[in-house]
Amino acid sequence: MDYRGRLILPGLIDGHCHLPQYAATAKDGLELLGWLKTNIFPLERSFHSAPWVRPYARHFFQELLRNGTTTAAIYTSIWKDSTDICFEEALKSGMRVIMGQVMMDRLSYDDVLRRPASQSFGDGDRDSVPGRLSPWDRLKKIIQESEGLCHKWHGKENRLFYAFSPRFGPSCSPALLRQAGRLAKKYSAYIQTHLAENRQEVGVVLKANPQCRSYTDFYHQSGILGPKTLLGHCIWLDGREMDILNKTAGKVIHCPTSNFFLSSGIMDWNGLAGRNIPIALGSDVGAGPELSIWAVMKQALYADKIAGAYHLHEKVDNKRPLTVQGVFYWATLGGAKALGMDNVTGSLEPGKQADFIVADPLAVNPMPGRLSRLAGRSAQSHLARLIYRGGENAVCSVFVKGRKLFEAAPKN
Ligand code: GUN
Ligand code: ZN
Repeated sequence: MDYRGRLILPGLIDGHCHLPQYAATAKDGLELLGWLKTNIFPLERSFHSAPWVRPYARHFFQELLRNGTTTAAIYTSIWKDSTDICFEEALKSGMRVIMGQVMMDRLSYDDVLRRPASQSFGDGDRDSVPGRLSPWDRLKKIIQESEGLCHKWHGKENRLFYAFSPRFGPSCSPALLRQAGRLAKKYSAYIQTHLAENRQEVGVVLKANPQCRSYTDFYHQSGILGPKTLLGHCIWLDGREMDILNKTAGKVIHCPTSNFFLSSGIMDWNGLAGRNIPIALGSDVGAGPELSIWAVMKQALYADKIAGAYHLHEKVDNKRPLTVQGVFYWATLGGAKALGMDNVTGSLEPGKQADFIVADPLAVNPMPGRLSRLAGRSAQSHLARLIYRGGENAVCSVFVKGRKLFEAAPKN
């Protein structure tokens, strides 16, 4: 194939996104807990063996590819059957996918939706909805379903992997987390969850688990922190919590588009990187409005510029500003390392599995034709334009394991 005049780059990695939430992107006006109750739990609750689940999932994978993403870590919903359909579509898509059924044994869809807004995630009884399973049976069902899915899909074609996916602290009992940790070890599978995204969320977790010194301590005591644990957001952590992540080899997924959208805050990447905690990027769709990791890279850079201007984070001696190369590393080789996949993907090297994208540099150049050279032709200037000027519009073709999975329609 002749790709003269094009750029060839490693496929991008999205370390955190929610498949059923794609239709709910851009629903603005609320912070995390209100947004979950109003916009997300009703949609995820309906993501249940409906005839539209399969075409919805198929579209989601096509959209990831269109944006240049070749590897993604994905949450589905609490429903086993529709998660199974998502895995079937992941298999057909040809992509590299880590995915799992959302686990919640507290404050699940119905528990939250039946409560008044004032106490949906806060105080109040923790009983299940009347007439439903006892807490013990509820936990057992969740564990059995997730184990069944892991057994069926983890390691399929060396391309699909299972992630036990306890949603976040407010929705998980210590017993659920312990079981998730046990199963992840048993199958060498992943765990993915959210950590310290929003200040109210942190308050709910500390109130429900007074024996724990911090949100991170709650996860640590429950045994879910380890080298295959992917932790989304990680904004409201103190130094001791970051030390726990370093000690347990947990991985952080930075989701700046989502963090801005839900007014969650700005993650202190320097504090984490200074402790050698690996970082990948996540679109966090549907809180992040786009599946484009190009857009996520841009917002990671802007987040760092704002944090610097307002001195938001603790002083670190070797503090450095984030660079275009730095965010691109998180989106590619650094992200692959965080996901434990750098032996097969993340860079263009002999022996890896040829996950790459072909991009048209003219699509993001401000100047047309021969004038385009005035904008600079170094690798650095091409990369900066892809990140700051909508790289998703420059993606022409996408390959995973050397197979072409996406080709853009020709532009006139
Ligand atoms: N915390 C718990 N669930 C979610 C979710 O679906 N999206 C985000 N951004 N944060 C969460
Ligand atoms: Zn999320």
